[in-house]
Amino acid sequence: MKKANLIMLGAPGSGKGTRAVALCEVLGIAQVSTGDLFRNNIKEGTELGKLAKSYINKGELVPDGVTAAMVKDRLSKPDTAGGFILDGFPRTLAQAEMLDKILAELGEEISYALYLDVPDAEIIRRISGRMICSECQAPYHREFNPPKSEGICDKCGGKLFTRDDDKPETVKKRLEVFRSTTLPLADFYGARGILVKIPPELSERGAAADMREVAEKLGLCAR
Ligand code: AP5
Ligand code: MG
Repeated sequence: MKKANLIMLGAPGSGKGTRAVALCEVLGIAQVSTGDLFRNNIKEGTELGKLAKSYINKGELVPDGVTAAMVKDRLSKPDTAGGFILDGFPRTLAQAEMLDKILAELGEEISYALYLDVPDAEIIRRISGRMICSECQAPYHREFNPPKSEGICDKCGGKLFTRDDDKPETVKKRLEVFRSTTLPLADFYGARGILVKIPPELSERGAAADMREVAEKLGLCAR
């Protein structure tokens, strides 16, 4: 069995959060979503949140050093010791190199980078129907994954909202940044022999069953 230290790689709206939440439930490991961490800081009005907001609302990346420092801090928390999924990090080659250093200091390494390859037209459909829980950040979709009660999170009862960066013009910019800056990471991890393509569509059994199958195939476990 392999320890589940994972990266979830994919375009905006490709389903990183949906899969990461499901896999964390299946394996009992920690989700580390840089987007969620930034949004929490924005909500709390911290200095980091103010800085991040100025980039996020334009669809640009937050500077590498700032993002890597936040991830380093998060990975030093005890709940990640048994395994983790990095959802939305790294997003640049420089971040991937910073991650190698952070993990070397912790005596850890990445077991697999899971890649969701989703066509742009499907991404637009997914993002345009997305709603997020204001408390636990779980993602829903008006059509593909509606909550049981309208506007309310199934998991924690929080109110659902639409993200500021899900406006069509910002989504276009986020997709451009993904293609030019983040997509090369698929080759970077491919060259290391740890890139695994995940089917982009969910089966009828749902995200948890799909991700359980992925975990079994890869021989992943939490430690
Ligand atoms: P982040 O929050 O990471 O946003 P993102 O990468 O743009 O990805 P999303 O969260 O939009 O999509 P997702 O892939 O999680 O899809 P989801 O599961 O929600 O980052 C936001 C911003 O923060 C960045 O733009 C940047 O500014 C900054 N930032 C973050 N990390 C950074 C970093 N490392 N460096 C610098 N800056 C950084 O699914 C989408 C929708 O589709 C949902 O409604 C869901 O219900 C639905 N859905 C999911 N899967 C399926 C399916 N198979 N079929 C049908 N519907 C589906
Ligand atoms: Mg997400």
